[in-house]
Amino acid sequence: MKDLSYQGVMGRKNDIMKDAVGIDYDVFERGKISFDYEEMMNNVAYSMEEMQSIQRETKVGNTPLFELHNVNKLIKKYSPEGKGARVFIKDEAANASGSFKARRASISVYHAKKMGYKGVIAATSGNYGAAVASQAAMHGLKCIIVQEVYDSNKKGQPEIIEKARKCEAFGAEVIQLTVGPELFYTFLKLLEETGFFNASLYTPFGIAGVETLGYEIAEQMQEREGKYPDVVIATHAGGGNLTGTARGLIKAGATDCKVIGASVDLKGLHMASDKDFNRKSFTTGHTGFGIPFATQPDRADVPRNAARVLRYMDEYLTVTQGEVFYVTEMLAQLEGLERGPAGNVSLAAAISLAKEMDEDKIIVVQETEYTGAGKHPMPQLTFARNNGIHIYRGNPKENVPGKTIVIPTSFDQINGKRLDLENLKIKYVKNIMGDMKLLDLDDVDIQYIADEIKVSVERVKEFLSK
Ligand SMILES: Cc1ncc(COP(=O)(O)O)c(C=O)c1O
Repeated sequence: MKDLSYQGVMGRKNDIMKDAVGIDYDVFERGKISFDYEEMMNNVAYSMEEMQSIQRETKVGNTPLFELHNVNKLIKKYSPEGKGARVFIKDEAANASGSFKARRASISVYHAKKMGYKGVIAATSGNYGAAVASQAAMHGLKCIIVQEVYDSNKKGQPEIIEKARKCEAFGAEVIQLTVGPELFYTFLKLLEETGFFNASLYTPFGIAGVETLGYEIAEQMQEREGKYPDVVIATHAGGGNLTGTARGLIKAGATDCKVIGASVDLKGLHMASDKDFNRKSFTTGHTGFGIPFATQPDRADVPRNAARVLRYMDEYLTVTQGEVFYVTEMLAQLEGLERGPAGNVSLAAAISLAKEMDEDKIIVVQETEYTGAGKHPMPQLTFARNNGIHIYRGNPKENVPGKTIVIPTSFDQINGKRLDLENLKIKYVKNIMGDMKLLDLDDVDIQYIADEIKVSVERVKEFLSK
């Protein structure tokens, strides 16, 4: 009989994981703290051609890229002379499950099937569950999704409940939990019990699957405008979206394109807190995940996370929930595109940025997501109001996360804030070093940190000698 206590299951974590993803992460370990990221991506994942072919067969990819003509007219109107970059949007809602997450799931689930697993499991409250469920349905695999849905009063956020509905529609079994540490325990126990594949968001399969998105953007823009985009903005939470897209852009040759992350500012709210859990409106694309994952990527459910944003991010912008609600309505009413909040986080950031950039520049918002009963502004705002959040029209500058939602009264009030990337890099270094000192590290470790945060080796040494 196996010990199924919390300690017992957690103690077997490494073995359970090894069986469930079929990757021996140890072979990529180097030095004291580092691992060979590129070697892991090259050895484990699939080539671009293979992934494009897998995705073609599973109703993923080749999504349209639209110019937002009416929004762009407004941007010009509110920009200084000569400014006002053009904004395009990649309509990822057109993927089988309604979001870019289908790209991630398609490669993972294909791999699970190829390796002979009978089913797949994913721990996620987001669109990824639906994506895995949709792909599993196509491949005839069983699918279990473990979700953190409720606070301790059994109150669930409408967007998460919406996602449970969607997973079930694709035939998955959904296990709904309250917020807390039992998520990981339940997940491990299920993996061990069923012998299913861990379709983690963070394996090389998942992240490589998103590379096709960056690749397509570069190719579509080249074909349309004869040049690569100047900026691509990706909504950032766990980091796979930005990492995969950036890698795809580089693989297509768009090496000068700036990659910018965007998240909703939820400063002061803690995602693992029962009290704060329902004080956010959007369940994804916020700083509550964005900052911890950027500065400590290996906090994931696999030993080495393939999503590592500080390797690729050139800037990080935050926007408020109110700005995203405004932009969601704007996209529907000016462009005839009714889409969910996640991609609109990047759209809000793109609008602020476009006003500062020259008019001949091009910004691509790299995704939209589907919308549905739980993702609409109405249920979200009603839920917020029922949770004591003060909602009013005004200047989003006044916003206090978890206390207010301030919906702009005018387009010119959409103004994202730049987060200090240098600070995030310092935080990353602190996290990875723990109590170690520069002298404790091998050269390979110092080079690793430099690659991880996109700075020179000299700069790393400077950070470490502070
Ligand atoms: C539609 C959508 N966009 C963006 C994100 C953010 O992606 P990531 O967690 O990889 O940073 C998510 C998932 O969290 C999502 O579901």
